[in-house]
Amino acid sequence: MTILVTGGAGYIGSHTCVELLQKGYEVVIADNFVNSSMDVPERIARITGKMPKVFELDVADSHALDLVFAENHIGAVIHFAGLKAVGESCQIPLRYYRNNLDTTLTLLETMERHGCKKLVFSSSATVYGPKNECPYTEDMPTSATNPYGWTKVMIEQILRDYCAANPEFSAVLLRYFNPIGAHESGLLGDDPNGIPNNLMPYVARVAAGQLPRLTVFGDDYPTRDGSCLRDYLHVVDLAKGHLSALEYAASHTGAEAFNLGTGEGISVLELVHSFQEVNGVPVPFVIGGRRDGDLAEVYANPSRAREELHWTAEKTLDDMCRDSWHFIQTRKAER
Ligand code: NAD
Ligand code: UD1
Repeated sequence: MTILVTGGAGYIGSHTCVELLQKGYEVVIADNFVNSSMDVPERIARITGKMPKVFELDVADSHALDLVFAENHIGAVIHFAGLKAVGESCQIPLRYYRNNLDTTLTLLETMERHGCKKLVFSSSATVYGPKNECPYTEDMPTSATNPYGWTKVMIEQILRDYCAANPEFSAVLLRYFNPIGAHESGLLGDDPNGIPNNLMPYVARVAAGQLPRLTVFGDDYPTRDGSCLRDYLHVVDLAKGHLSALEYAASHTGAEAFNLGTGEGISVLELVHSFQEVNGVPVPFVIGGRRDGDLAEVYANPSRAREELHWTAEKTLDDMCRDSWHFIQTRKAER
């Protein structure tokens, strides 16, 4: 079967392309490389021995997307393409709404024209909003605190409405918790431009001497060591979750949400200590004030994914720390 992977050159998309190719799927990537590097497809080929087909296009460009469907027999789509920086989404909200909603609407219209009825969508734990209590379950009400988060809430609603009107359609809404880590080859990983916003890329750059120190955003939360708890999962486990979702979509219709997380909350300080211990490198840090909008704890109840997708996260925090370090060292050596 051929899978169209929108945003397939990005962090999670590229790892998912590797898993798909290794399982024998044909892969077509559609990406405009607004937040990824043009050499990613070739890196995917170095790992898998197979070069994915690549279309450089904006997924909101319906004419360009039509050609992709016309030239390839697409059996299902995994839709990663989107903008994802929370802070930036508050500064330029219209760009986030335009990009994330337009790509999804254009994709659905194009799929409809070509009779493609299976979609896996990258949603986020951010849709649980500030009011629900952890561990989050999929039946909780959704909301958001920033434009990025609202695009995820809105797209989930669009997909529910579309499925209600099209009973043969299947939309699997995957709510990712905090993916970190990298491919064990060191060839793929999270390599944001500029100063990272997220914890693990920041820690890795401090350890590599590219940034002076980490600021831990708050140690006065009501958690076991005062720093925030998050449900970190290895990006390769997350990538495998998409293959489970495709199998699920093959035998189910309707819009269904699944948490992809480990179910375990790890604190910022625990992550920093593990990184130092596993890799034998210092990560200098200072304690700073809380970051606006941060919640004390965010972790999943992952039972639904275990029972219905037959998926569980298998890799450990040590694996995540080791692979992130290996990736940044490989990157450094390449430069
Ligand atoms: P990423 O930025 O690395 O990948 C997204 C890819 O989409 C990039 O390659 C980018 O160039 C591409 N893209 C963006 N807009 C496009 C457009 N209009 N047309 C074509 N390509 C476009 O991000 P990621 O971390 O791999 O995240 C993938 C998806 O998962 C996103 O939708 C994101 O919101 C969601 N998500 C990510 C996380 C996380 O922690 N990384 C958590 C929850 C949800
Ligand atoms: C953030 C987004 C979330 C998005 C996810 C993945 C917010 C409020 N949430 O999640 O919507 O889906 O990224 O892109 O932005 N931390 C530090 N120092 C740092 C960086 C982070 O202490 O320099 C702490 C944070 O306070 C947090 C934890 O590390 O407690 C994880 O932060 P981060 O990696 O940014 O992820 P989230 O905030 O969970």
